[in-house]
Amino acid sequence: MSPLALYIHWPFCLAKCPYCDFNSHVRERLPQAEMLAALRAELAFEAARLGPRRLTSIFFGGGTPSLMAPASVAALIEDATRLFTPALDIEITLEANPTSIEAGKFAAYRAAGVNRVSIGVQSFDAAALKFLGRQHSAAQAIAAIELGAKIFPRISFDLIYARPEQTEAAWRAELRQALSLAADHLSLYQLTIEEGTKFATLYGRGEFALPEEELAARLYDATAEEGQKFDLEPYEISNYARPGAESRHNLAYWRYQDYAGIGPGAHGRVSLGGGLHATSRHRAPEAWMALVQRHGHGTTEELPITPADQAREALLMGLRLAEGVSLPYFTARTGVALEDAVEADMLAACIDEGYLTLSPERITATEQGRHRLDALLPALLR
Ligand SMILES: C[S@@+](CC[C@H](N)C(=O)[O-])C[C@H]1O[C@@H](n2cnc3c(N)ncnc32)[C@H](O)[C@@H]1O
Ligand code: SF4
Repeated sequence: MSPLALYIHWPFCLAKCPYCDFNSHVRERLPQAEMLAALRAELAFEAARLGPRRLTSIFFGGGTPSLMAPASVAALIEDATRLFTPALDIEITLEANPTSIEAGKFAAYRAAGVNRVSIGVQSFDAAALKFLGRQHSAAQAIAAIELGAKIFPRISFDLIYARPEQTEAAWRAELRQALSLAADHLSLYQLTIEEGTKFATLYGRGEFALPEEELAARLYDATAEEGQKFDLEPYEISNYARPGAESRHNLAYWRYQDYAGIGPGAHGRVSLGGGLHATSRHRAPEAWMALVQRHGHGTTEELPITPADQAREALLMGLRLAEGVSLPYFTARTGVALEDAVEADMLAACIDEGYLTLSPERITATEQGRHRLDALLPALLR
């Protein structure tokens, strides 16, 4: 049976950040008890149909899961590790925001079984934090990282770069400060303008500009260069880790392994009855809870994925990784041979241009290729 990664979505935040299009909502009162009951019901529903699979990771994502009551996190970890068969080295991550209220709960999350924390720092620059609409200061972010490093065996944090008017020198300095804080993993995202966000409106009105492509590319290269000085390898387009400290949960997505997703708006890819199924849950928290109360789960769609679509998805995800895609696994998983999944002319051209490498064992995007995946993949994939 395929091993399983479990994603648990917590859909609430203290405030909505102007750049963010994640499924996150602000509510006066957090329905802690109702959310816990509904998440437990969905977990039991998935466990009953998926069977006693080996559970390799649990990821509490959001939204802001550090707004969850630690007792809820403990109950869900207890359920998940009883209903599935936890791997001895199971990775249990919780995303946290650095405000003091949330950092105050770190010890309780650790006691609940969380062994990795991923902190949404975004920037160490006061003006940038204000621009990004964050509820915390740089000092609070540093304090949360230091506390997290004392409490959790593994820690990661997120930064957003390629911000308006950011220079290469300023980004290098900010990054060096981040790297000196001794996390074993960093997620470094270029600011993107997502449809429907407040930033999309402001950007559309010309109220701020993003760095030109050439500067953005230099910022990306500077990121990899500074990271390498601290032994952090770019193992995925936006993710850097010391060898062995890669996020196992995210690797399961990129390697196209099975994952179950519970909670509002969560997606899953699960092997069921000989085929791979795509699952989605209702996005609105209250509507999702009502569905779970009625049916035991808040699924809005569950569809088998055709072999051709599996092949596309596996390449879309896997080419983001520096290790590329294992071809024996690709074919065993999807039932499709690489030559039937890609355009032969485009594959040859990408290899000639130095964007892709191919051996009988793997197809891999080079560093240059990983930069250009958005442009290459539509032409490459059948
Ligand atoms: C679900 S959020 C992280 C958890 C937590 N709510 C927080 O904000 O600290 C995932 C991460 O995606 C990144 N992100 C979200 N929207 C983005 C955007 N438009 N551009 C770049 N990065 C973005 C941020 O770094 C954020 O920390
Ligand atoms: S970035 Fe994080 S805190 Fe901000 S709205 Fe998105 S999920 Fe919530």
